[in-house]
Amino acid sequence: MTNEVANDWWRDAVVYQVYPRSFADGNGDGTGDLIGVYDKLEYLSALGVDAIWLSPFYTSPLADGGYDVADYCDVDPRFGTLADFDLLIGRAHELNIRVIVDIVPNHSSSEHPWFREALAGIGRDRYIFRDQPNDWESIFGGPAWTQVPDGQWYLHLFDPSQPDFNWSHPDVHAFFKDVLRFWLQRGVDGFRIDVAHGMIKADGLPDVGALGHRQIELMTTAELPYFDQDGVHEIYREWRPILDEYGAMAVAEAWVSSPARLARYIGRDELHQAFNFDFMVAEFDAKSFRVVIEKSLAEAELVGAPTTWVLSNHDKPRHVTRYGGLARARAATLLMLSLPGSAYLYNGEELGLDEVTDLPPELREDPAFLRTGESRDGCRVPIPWAEGAWTNPWLPMPARWDAITADKQEHDPGSTLNFYRQAIRLRRGFRGDIQWLDVADGVLSFRRGDRRVVLNTSQSPVPIEGTVLMASGPVTDTLPPDTAVWLADR
Ligand code: NOJ
Repeated sequence: MTNEVANDWWRDAVVYQVYPRSFADGNGDGTGDLIGVYDKLEYLSALGVDAIWLSPFYTSPLADGGYDVADYCDVDPRFGTLADFDLLIGRAHELNIRVIVDIVPNHSSSEHPWFREALAGIGRDRYIFRDQPNDWESIFGGPAWTQVPDGQWYLHLFDPSQPDFNWSHPDVHAFFKDVLRFWLQRGVDGFRIDVAHGMIKADGLPDVGALGHRQIELMTTAELPYFDQDGVHEIYREWRPILDEYGAMAVAEAWVSSPARLARYIGRDELHQAFNFDFMVAEFDAKSFRVVIEKSLAEAELVGAPTTWVLSNHDKPRHVTRYGGLARARAATLLMLSLPGSAYLYNGEELGLDEVTDLPPELREDPAFLRTGESRDGCRVPIPWAEGAWTNPWLPMPARWDAITADKQEHDPGSTLNFYRQAIRLRRGFRGDIQWLDVADGVLSFRRGDRRVVLNTSQSPVPIEGTVLMASGPVTDTLPPDTAVWLADR
């Protein structure tokens, strides 16, 4: 898949995020694994996705669900083996499903051999050690520095078990280029770059300053000395020729202060895409959606690359819960799948899963939980394939999910699973740019080619005209509140 056209597959792709620990359990030990993913490839093919993005499955203590990597070129035994990975990617490609893997270059696990050596006083400059900490805060709460027995402090923008690499060190550059090649040679089609705005820290590690609130709250509005530094772009310029050599793409997880700053990550000599989180954080409201869509499209124009859309992932409460119910979640999904650009789905959203908010504290594993009381475990509960499909899952599934298991939804034409299948199939018929249509307050509507999309976030039904291609819920000649529809001209 290396010709020009094939290389552009990501532009309008539906990419399905697999959180391996929670997706499917191939060996029955209660933790999802790569063989579990392999077993579900036919399911994913029937869903119609173009690609899967695998969250980390590398050797890891799983202190942050695998975003703490101890060996970047091996599979954690809980998730399987490299041979399982090869099997998975081989079958995925046979089914025309591309495979994107996560790369975590900002930090390693404290179990990484380099950090162990650093603790022993060898090669400490591959990480960021100082005699005195500054005022930087961890994204997971508390200070971003931890002291080691000899008195020095090391930087960790996340958990203390995730020390930040020193990207001024040539070894770090060489190492990650080798990691990219390792996975490219195994056939991966792309990378999702974790904390793509991290890695380079401002010279001298200046204090943020006493601003009276948690620094993380400033992440999308202010310049922080540890995020979005100009030097980070040099890294992507180093990586791009390697990606090009294999015809692979990369998508950035970059939280930055403006669309213009985000645009700097994209381009012929840097990355292909960046997640557009503004859409995910928008209210369920016609006006908020329209503002974000217009802004995102303008931003895409700036860089000549289509934008990405996402409603749920492993870091945010599921959108069924955020929006206050399945009707709204389905409506927002139908809107998302009609937009130009690529759409990223999160495993389980196609079953209409909601957030599990009542997990007992002792079962929660998110490292942020202990420090801040906020936990992302509720969106990481294993996927209910069928009643009893998991033996002792690492997080318990709520009893209410017994009614919405994948096997129950399979043959129910009104199920959320079949709704997603239909929407993904029909989405391919959308052509052209968005032309906004004048509609009442609380309603959003646009035309793309010979199709129209209407979303009703108001309290009252609104009249609709045309042939209904599909809708997120029951419709007649009116569109009820909390519903979206795709219409063809009569
Ligand atoms: C972003 C990932 O999505 C999140 O799950 C992780 O905790 C942090 N990066 C740190 O790697």
